[in-house]
Amino acid sequence: MLVSAEEMLTKAKAGRYAVGQFNINNLEWTKAILLTAQELNSPVILGVSEGAGKYMCGYKTVVGMVNGMLEELNITVPVALHLDHGSYEGAKACIEAGFSSIMFDGSHYPIEENVEKTKELVAICKEKGMSIEAEVGSIGGEEDGVVGAGECADPDECKMIADLGVTMLAAGIGNIHGKYPDNWAGLSFETLDAVQQKTGSMPLVLHGGTGIPADMIQKAISLGVSKINVNTECQLSFQEATRKYIEDGKDKEGKGFDPRKLLAPGTEAIKATVKEKMELFGSVGKA
Ligand code: 13P
Repeated sequence: MLVSAEEMLTKAKAGRYAVGQFNINNLEWTKAILLTAQELNSPVILGVSEGAGKYMCGYKTVVGMVNGMLEELNITVPVALHLDHGSYEGAKACIEAGFSSIMFDGSHYPIEENVEKTKELVAICKEKGMSIEAEVGSIGGEEDGVVGAGECADPDECKMIADLGVTMLAAGIGNIHGKYPDNWAGLSFETLDAVQQKTGSMPLVLHGGTGIPADMIQKAISLGVSKINVNTECQLSFQEATRKYIEDGKDKEGKGFDPRKLLAPGTEAIKATVKEKMELFGSVGKA
C-alpha cells in the first residue's frame, strides 16, 4: 500500500540520511526503482512530473500501475507516490487519482498567492493523510517545460511556508535540474544553513540531484536535507545502456528485437544508478 512520505522523512531527518525521489517514466522505470528499494530495504519516493503523468496516460493509470506492482512484486518497503512540481490543478487531480503525496510548486506565484494556495492544499492533504511539499525560490534549469533560474530561497519566506503545515520544503540553494554547467557555483550551504535554522525539524528537499558531487550531497544531508530528487541521471544511464545494446548489434541477434530484451539493459542500468544513490543518501536498510 502506498504511504505518505511524512513518516519516512521525519525518520530520515532525525537519522541524518535522505530518502531518494526517483522520477518514473514508464513500467520499466517503476519496476527498476521498486525492486531496488526492496532489495536494499530502503524507503523510496516515486516522482511523477505532470508531463510524465500525461505520457503514462494520466494519473489514474499511474496509480493503477504502481499499486499493482506493489502487490504483484511483494514490495513491503515504504513507497510514496508523489506528484513532482505540481500545478494547483495537477495537485488536485493527483489527490483525486490516489497519489499518496504531492508537491505544489507555487514558487512562480507572488508569495501571498503561493501562501493561499498552499494553505488550501495543506488542509486537503491533512484530511486525506497525504504528504505535501512546497517550494520557495525556484530550482534552476528546465524540467518538462518548467523553467527556473536557480535562485536562492529567502529563509524568512521558507519559514512562512513551513509554518503553513507542509510536510517537506524544497528551498532553492543554487541547485538546478538536469546536468550542471561547467561554471556552476555549487550549492549555497550558507542559504541551506539559514533555512534549516529557521525551519527546525522540517525535512528539506534537494531537487536537481543529478550530477551533484558526493561530498556536497553529504554536506547537504548534514544540514537538514532529507529528500533528494533524481531524474536525469536515471535517464542518462538508461540511454547509455540502450545505446550500447544497439551499437553492439544485440538487437539483430536472435530475438534481440523483443522489447523485453531490448529494454532490459536500460532497466538494469536504472537499478544500478538507484542503488548507487540510495547508498550515497544513506537510506539502505532504513525501511
Ligand atoms: P535532476 O533531473 O537534475 O536529477 O532533477 C530531478 C528533480 O529535481 C525532480 O524534481
